[in-house]
Amino acid sequence: MYNPQPGDTLDALDTPSMVVDLDLMEANIASMLGRLLPTGVKVRPHLKTTKSPLLAQKLIDAGATGGCVAKLSEAEVMAAGGIEDLLITCEIIGKPKVARLVALFRQHPQVKVVLDSAAGATMINQALEEAGIAAPLQVLIDLDVGQNRTGIAPGAPALELARTIGRLKNLRLIGVQGYEGHLQHLHDRQAREENCRASMLLLSGTADLLREAGFEIETVTTGGTGTAEFCADCPGITEVQPGSFIFMDTDYRNALGQVFSNSLTVLATVISKQGPGRVVIDTGLKSLTTDSGYAEPKNLPDLVYTPNGDEHGTLSWKSGPGLEIGDRVEMIPSHIDPTINLHDTYYAHRKGIIEEIWPVATRGKVQ
Ligand SMILES: Cc1ncc(COP(=O)(O)O)c(C=O)c1O
Repeated sequence: MYNPQPGDTLDALDTPSMVVDLDLMEANIASMLGRLLPTGVKVRPHLKTTKSPLLAQKLIDAGATGGCVAKLSEAEVMAAGGIEDLLITCEIIGKPKVARLVALFRQHPQVKVVLDSAAGATMINQALEEAGIAAPLQVLIDLDVGQNRTGIAPGAPALELARTIGRLKNLRLIGVQGYEGHLQHLHDRQAREENCRASMLLLSGTADLLREAGFEIETVTTGGTGTAEFCADCPGITEVQPGSFIFMDTDYRNALGQVFSNSLTVLATVISKQGPGRVVIDTGLKSLTTDSGYAEPKNLPDLVYTPNGDEHGTLSWKSGPGLEIGDRVEMIPSHIDPTINLHDTYYAHRKGIIEEIWPVATRGKVQ
């Protein structure tokens, strides 16, 4: 029976398999938290990247404060896995989801949600009231600080929403969130920093406006891997939410340089060679995503990867020895979060010896 175990070498793994270099991953965690924590901000890592309560706990052990999740179904799995201090960063809308939120909140009262509309706030408040839950749910107003996705406009519209929330007895407004996702991958560091600082002014300015109106705004949360260091340096920001830094991908490496290492790869095997300068490997669209460009073979700069259907990919080269049937190659994903969502298991190794095996616990948790 196929059953790889800690102590096995990577050669024991069938392919495609998702592998994590623990030395590199731990260095990424130490580097991000080592930079941010001394500034006084909390680091609430976005767990949409790792999809694993075990990894969330490793981040907490390193100094993180709970975690963010994008979806309610991710929160359910994280909470069941022992991660209590969770912020759900997407709006909770619709009867089925609100009912799930109420059930989750009953068991896990530290869960927090963002909202950007009076309709959403009223819906959640009513469900909590009908459920007879006395303690108020902690909520944050989601602000649009330039991404043009969710989030109410900063300033007066946000204040009006705060006043609405203030009238709802089952909700307690504790903060504001403003995610500047459109800036994370800007290659020009100066442009990334300047635009980020402008977004942070909208966020902290609205937090101040709400405080002047009497609201106790304790949390001002924002940022991702590309901007966290700038956010942490802006007055009024209390918390940052980077996620991808733990593993990185080629897209982020191209934008940020080698600030963090690519610690996760997808191990592949050459399954066919039918001519010079080209082999076919067993990773295609089912194991590597392509929304942010194509994956790259690790340590093989002369080889270029092109997906070739669901299960196949072509590696081609113009000069050099290339690869032979049966050779193995580690592919660095171009976009880490959705690539992880294609796999069941992480094989974490140190210098080629498997040390830990983690399930991708929130894989497929899209609701
Ligand atoms: C609201 C929010 N915060 C933080 C992040 C983390 O960003 P990254 O993985 O780029 O560090 C994301 C990613 O999509 C997000 O949607």
